[in-house]
Amino acid sequence: MQFVIASHNKHKIEEFRRILEPLDIELIEAQLSEVEENGETFIENAYVKAKSACLETGLPSIADDSGLCIDALGGEPGVRTARYAPKGQRKKTVLMKMKDVPDDKRTAYFVAAIACVFPNGDVIEVEGKCYGKIGYECKGEGGFGYDPIFMYGKHSFSEMSPEEKDAVSHRGVALRILEDRLKEYLRK
Ligand code: IMP
Repeated sequence: MQFVIASHNKHKIEEFRRILEPLDIELIEAQLSEVEENGETFIENAYVKAKSACLETGLPSIADDSGLCIDALGGEPGVRTARYAPKGQRKKTVLMKMKDVPDDKRTAYFVAAIACVFPNGDVIEVEGKCYGKIGYECKGEGGFGYDPIFMYGKHSFSEMSPEEKDAVSHRGVALRILEDRLKEYLRK
């Protein structure tokens, strides 16, 4: 079965492929119209993107939305994670806002929401979270986005291998739930 993926982020597409290929799902990329991500929840944004891709292509479509929620900042950057500050300034902005926050108040979590929309109107929505803390500086070279400032235990996400990150990350958790939900759906 072919699924359109409503993302151009190579890193994410690879993660999705690893999980979906064993289910005989081929992910294809398509030229899709830009969709405004102005939902109030991650799930809402993922659904809007998947629904639009499904309407445009007539194929089952999958989309995700993810972000970082920091307790000491009242859940910010949240759904605004990708546009919290200009590119290149985002981690620095978070570290500045957190500079006087003590260790026990630096708790944060990543969220990944994934929506699948089928041409017959069926919808599957899942969400995964990963809890950690905001560090005091950037650490490590790997990963992307906010990985260098997100501490999972003693290491930042950037200091972990892709496999170590997949095993605990928000997207890893969401994709494993999705795998189960899709298996169940395709069996029907
Ligand atoms: P979007 O889901 O592509 O809209 O991205 C949301 C924002 O969250 C972007 O700024 C990403 O860099 C960030 N983000 C999402 N997942 C991760 C992750 O696993 N590590 C670091 N940053 C992430």
